[in-house]
Order: sequence, then structure tokens, then C-alpha cells
Amino acid sequence: MDLSVKKLAQVTALVSKMTSEEKVGQMILVDPRFLDTPADISTFNIGGVFVNGGGAPPPNTTESWILLAETMQHYAGKSSMKKPLLLGTDAVHGHNNLYGSVLFPHNIGLGAGNNPQRVEEIARITSLELASTGFNWNFAPCVAVVDDPRWGRTYESFSSNTEVTTRLGSAAVRGIQSSFGTGKARVLACAKHFIGDGGTVGGVDRGNTKMELAELRARFLPPYEAAVAAGVGSIMLSYNQWNGTPCHASRYLISDLLKHELGFRGFVVSDWDAIDDLAPKNRYIDAISLSINAGLDMIMASRKYKACHAGLLELLSRGDIHLSRINDAVTRILTAKAALGLLDRQQPELPPATQIDKTKSRNIARSAVRESVVLLKNEAILPLKSKVKRIHVCGEFADDLGLQCGGWSISWQGSRGRITEGTTILEGLRNLAAPDMTVSYSPGAEVPDGIDLIIAVAGEYPYAEFHGDLTELELPQDQQAFLTALTNRNVPVLCILIAGRPLVIKPYLDKFDATVVAWLPGTEGDGVAEALFSRELPTGKLPMGWPDDKKPTS
Ligand code: GLC
Repeated sequence: MDLSVKKLAQVTALVSKMTSEEKVGQMILVDPRFLDTPADISTFNIGGVFVNGGGAPPPNTTESWILLAETMQHYAGKSSMKKPLLLGTDAVHGHNNLYGSVLFPHNIGLGAGNNPQRVEEIARITSLELASTGFNWNFAPCVAVVDDPRWGRTYESFSSNTEVTTRLGSAAVRGIQSSFGTGKARVLACAKHFIGDGGTVGGVDRGNTKMELAELRARFLPPYEAAVAAGVGSIMLSYNQWNGTPCHASRYLISDLLKHELGFRGFVVSDWDAIDDLAPKNRYIDAISLSINAGLDMIMASRKYKACHAGLLELLSRGDIHLSRINDAVTRILTAKAALGLLDRQQPELPPATQIDKTKSRNIARSAVRESVVLLKNEAILPLKSKVKRIHVCGEFADDLGLQCGGWSISWQGSRGRITEGTTILEGLRNLAAPDMTVSYSPGAEVPDGIDLIIAVAGEYPYAEFHGDLTELELPQDQQAFLTALTNRNVPVLCILIAGRPLVIKPYLDKFDATVVAWLPGTEGDGVAEALFSRELPTGKLPMGWPDDKKPTS
């Protein structure tokens, strides 16, 4: 995120003219649902607004997103600063809060595909779609390296391998920020969550990452070094602690390591209300002081934006936060706005929604899905033989868009059902079946007579963050019962797993003739069918070890 000397001078001149109220206002990020009145955007000179998982403006159309963006920018234009807002959201596998948007495989699937060009292309398309709805900041990529797949955010990570995560994470940053330096609307990336979110004890989300500094640096720092080198404009702090110290309160991690040693010149944003827990409940002002002095620049304040504004002013006036720290934070935030063209007199044009080529997006998503499928076992089932004429597909995961999309899909936690537009795995299999093939279906384990192949689709129900933490890496009980009912049939079984992480499936792996994992493919389920009907075997490689004691044949 390089700025010309002229633009840097513009930012410096702007900061020198700002009042304290304007400066602290720019350091606050709010969720519009919690504004007492949209006019508070003007009153408090708020710097950013965000839509988080499930916060889509009703009725969740491109038009309702554009209206929200325009309304928020209208109020920003009426503030004393009159500078446009950063408008952020979690578009972590496509513009996934927006109905009808193409949802790409979650990062774990892209990690299995391990194709940096594909990752960059998906990120670029996502930015185009985000910008077409008036938004200019993506809380992505998640560059977590996963130690324990029991973690509920495993699927948001590319891999448990630091090098793969580093390579794919920087490709995502390049793709998200690809329109920088052009006259077109631009989107800021946000590498997250700094640092060690995937390394907590027991995979507990927001838990404690317990390790020596040398190991923390070796395992989790390279993705941030590469993101900084790729010009990432913002970095989000992590909820977890490092050896008991919350990342949001660590001056060493934020200032010494990230800003000084890595030379990160963008701005650091907190996670949702993450600073609240840094001090006793009734001492929010102490939490603000601790985190801002550690090096935090922008507070995701959601409900507490007024207390945040007043607290920052009070801390500044009594010298608990030095003016130089405030000026540094505001300079970083306004530098990002300058890079986005938000400080220019003439705002960059939004790409018209008509410029979104859905067919192209679907084709790219389908290719990414195909590349993500990993073969765990194959006893002469794949590639499908020409003699296979009657296929019976079973399992609710075969014909449910919400289940194949997983969390962060239209809603925060994701849900069953036709949550958006797309193609289920069953629809994909039927689309690709040869004219002389039949593809029957049952949601349960009932299988008609005369079948040549059973395709059983099972998986994990959607979840996000701590809601997905597990103590045992197992499928849900009903899915285990469903698969058990399909063992010892006198028909070959090909099992497709829809999961956000590796799971213990040994009891079935041994009994089924073939098993593949398709992770959380998103809206283009026909990419799974393409991987199965291809003349080639699935090419995906495990992005993290499989827990079964029997190593799969991949
Ligand atoms: C969540 C997540 C973070 C996300 C933020 C805003 O709690 O931890 O990844 O960007 O809130 O939705």
C-alpha cells in the first residue's frame, strides 16, 4: 500500500488541522445496527462502519447494500471532517453476506487446491463485487496457521503448514487490493488475526497460545511478513492470549514486532469488542488505554462508540494516551483512506453491479471446488467406470446449499436450506451424468435395488468461531449413524465428506470402497461432481494431517 510523497504530505497536512474530537472519531469503527441515529456518524466523525456476519441490510440485495453505503457516506459527508468512511465486511469466501453472490470454497479447500493464482483471482473477483456494493474494506484474508483442527475456525485457515499459508495469504492480499493504483474503486485487505489464533491450547477459540517466542515467530509470523510485503493495508488483532497476555494488550506484539520490526505502516484494528475484556467490566476506559498504548489504531466498538469517543478524549486530555500515539493512529488510518482514493476530491467510480460476470465467477468457483477435492481412499471406484449406470445418492448433505457453504454464508453461523443461489452436489451429479445413467436420491440411508454405486454425502452442520470448537474430531452422531447404516451393503460405496476440518472417519474409511473430502465447497456443488466424473483422480492434497491412525491414500 504505497503512497506517493504528495499523498503522504496531504495526510500529514490533514492531521495537523484536525481537532482532537475529529482524530478520536476516525479511530472508531461501528456496526450501523447499533447507532442511536445515523447522524452519530457525523456528530462523532466516525472513521469506519462495518457489516458483520448476518448483518446484511434488508432485504439483502445489491441495492440495499448500496443504499446502506450511500447513507453512511452521506452522514460522513456532513461531519466536520467530511472525509468518507471505511466500509468493511467479512467477505471471506466471496461477498458471502450478500444474497445471490457466488460463494467460493472456504480457505481450507483453497489450501487443499494450493493454487496461488486461483486464490488471487477469487480475491480479485470478491473485491469487484464488494466495491460494486459500495464497500471498500474486506476483513480478509484469515492467515491463521492451524495447530489443532478441533478449533472452530479451522476452515477459515488455508493450512497447518506455515509456508502454504504464507504463499496463499499473500496471494489473497494481492487479489483483494488488486485495483490499487487504478482509477477504479479499491478495496483494502485486512490480514487476521494477529497473532497465534490457530495455535491455542486444545484448539479453543479465543484461548491461550502457549509457546516460546521463537516458536511463535517461526510458526505464525511468516504469513504476516508476506502480507506486509504485499502491502496489506490493515491487520486485525486476535482474541487469543499469548502466554496469558491478550494480543489486544501486547505492546511487544503490536508495536515492537508488527509495526517496528516488520515495518507495518498500515493500521491495526481490534476484533469485535475484543478490548472490552482487557479490564474489569466497569472500566472500559482502562481497556481503551491499555490497547491504544499497546499500538491498536482503530477500535471495533460496535455498541460502545460513544463511550469509546469520550474515553479517548478523556485519556488524551489527562495524558494517559499521548498525542503522538493518537496522531500515529490517525495518520495510519488516513493513509489507508488516501490509498483508497477516499481523500480525493472526486471519489473513484463504483464498478457497476452489471460488471459482475456471474458466469465467470461460477466457472472460477467450480474450478476451485474441483481442485479442492482430496482423495482419501480409492479401491477401483474412481475414475467412475463406464459400467456404472445406476447411481443412488443419499444424505441430506447431498442436496442442501446451506450445508455445503458452511459458516459465514448469508448469516454468521450459516444454516441449512436454500440460503442463496447455487448448485447442490446432487444437482451437479445429475447435470454431469451420462444420458444412459440414472441418479436417484434419498435423504436417508434407504437404497433401492439394482444400484451400481452408492454415493453417500455426510458432514458437519454449519458453524462459525467458538460455536464450532470440538473436544473430539468426530462427525455429528446422526451422521455417524447414517454412514454406519450404509456399511456392509453389497453395493460399492463412495463417501463424500463435507467438513471444515479433518475428522476421525476410520470406522467408515475401512468399510467404504472410496472416500473423498470436499471441505466446504460453497455455492458451486457441481465442482464436486466434476471431480468425481473426471477422467483424472481428484488432485487436492491434505492441507493438514488426517487424525485417523490409518493414513489415507492421498
Ligand atoms: C468476528 C471475527 C472476525 C470478524 C469480526 C467482524 O468476531 O473474529 O474475524 O472480522 O468479528 O465480523
